[in-house]
Amino acid sequence: MEFSIKSGHPAKASCDCIVVGVFDSRQLSAPAQALDKVAGGHLAGILRRGDMEGKSGSTLLAHGTPGIAAERVLLVGLGKEAEFGEKAYRDALAAAVRALKDTGSKNASITLSELPVARRNAAWRVRQGALVAHDVLYRSDQLKSKKDNASPSLAALAFFVAGKDARSAAAALMQGDAIAQGMNLTRELGNLPANICTPTYLAQQAQKLAKAFKLECEVLDRARMEKLGMGSLLAVGRGSHQPPRFIVLQYRGGKAKAKPVVLVGKGITFDTGGISLKPGAEMDEMKYDMSGAASVLGAFHAMAAMKLPLNVVGLIPAVENMPGGAATRPGDIVTSLSGQTVEILNTDAEGRLILCDALTYAERFEPDCVVDVATLTGACVIALGAVASGLMANDDGLAAELLEAGQTSGDRAWQLPLWDEYQEMLKSNFADIPNISGSRAAGTITGACFLARFTKKYRWAHLDIAGTAWRSGAGKGSTGRPVPLLTHFLMKRAGRL
Ligand code: BES
Ligand code: MN
Ligand code: ZN
Repeated sequence: MEFSIKSGHPAKASCDCIVVGVFDSRQLSAPAQALDKVAGGHLAGILRRGDMEGKSGSTLLAHGTPGIAAERVLLVGLGKEAEFGEKAYRDALAAAVRALKDTGSKNASITLSELPVARRNAAWRVRQGALVAHDVLYRSDQLKSKKDNASPSLAALAFFVAGKDARSAAAALMQGDAIAQGMNLTRELGNLPANICTPTYLAQQAQKLAKAFKLECEVLDRARMEKLGMGSLLAVGRGSHQPPRFIVLQYRGGKAKAKPVVLVGKGITFDTGGISLKPGAEMDEMKYDMSGAASVLGAFHAMAAMKLPLNVVGLIPAVENMPGGAATRPGDIVTSLSGQTVEILNTDAEGRLILCDALTYAERFEPDCVVDVATLTGACVIALGAVASGLMANDDGLAAELLEAGQTSGDRAWQLPLWDEYQEMLKSNFADIPNISGSRAAGTITGACFLARFTKKYRWAHLDIAGTAWRSGAGKGSTGRPVPLLTHFLMKRAGRL
């Protein structure tokens, strides 16, 4: 998709379709009014005849609008003007692009980007425009023998902004496009099945990314990890024929001495639960258990494309959790890289077992801060559903940065507490720490409490993306989250927001 910025009178936009908004009830938005003035009240006439109310998400395609350069006008419902905000704006954009797909339009111009959204500027509106458009147009046909040509025609989208905003909007459009490319990588990797997307495959993809963007990439194999003492990470992969990999990516866009941000992504390429076997229903979705890893790769893609002036390290423990003859048993005790011993009471609480060794490994980079991303707990899906990712941190400043990045990007997170009372729920009779608490209560928090035992030397935050990384059901598929959150966090730190 080719994106561009347009300024000037919408009636002069020569394109296959121009998109204008209509507020409930039958109120033309300002750009729509400007268009209608030239068209001699043609659009107002359509509304008067009752063909459109302006309800959020509704659309109506008009041909033959007199006096204007565009071949078609797509009217998009914006909902009530008094309630028009970030969500209504994104919903209207999505409805517009969805409707455009079904027309014969090759190039379209959208005036919705001129509508004021409280506390947001034109750059934000355009960046969101690129993200929403990519999201609606994404298809996963990488493993279909016949490619699905749902939208062969729509190839170019222009966003209208006032002339004074054109420069900042053009820069924001590039950012939105870069973030969307990163999300697409995350989605493609997430949607791949576990027989293709193995730990080895993830490492190859990281190396490919490193080559494309001049990143440093190192991949540690089992022998190297054994030597280092990553006993917890290695315990998870024992039941699988797929060898484990530990991926270290380094992006150096900042000053040589600037402390890096370290991003850690859970890379379980398939989670059967191990000997603590999961029930069969929907187990196929456990191919998405490497979504944290995929989002780290997506964020690297986006920030490298944007050339952010920052130093960032990506750590990806990539392992398959299977119940083989050599698999770890419930009750087994292992020694983590930190030296702490762990009693593995449930082999299905494996994410924390691979993350803890990655979090200890992070210390060697003397990080400014560490953010891990993981499909860690089913409990998080129960708590927050598919709307917000769970956020837990040992530093409120870092948590605030991530919450704001979530708000700004529309890829939101919600903070849960990490109080000492929860830490007390993790007690083992035989080792320093068990990998689960004795009860199901506060499962998302106790998962994070386990990780917190390994993050005492730096500022750290944990994103539980179990509910947000993919959609289930008929529209099953990776969402590309939390790439927008992560990249906005990095952009803000780089002074690019
Ligand atoms: N990958 C799962 C978490 C998960 C489950 C994410 C369902 C999305 C949907 C994780 O490895 C896991 O199995 N967690 C257990 C932890 C429990 C054993 C303490 C869970 O949530 O049941
Ligand atoms: Mn599990
Ligand atoms: Zn898992």
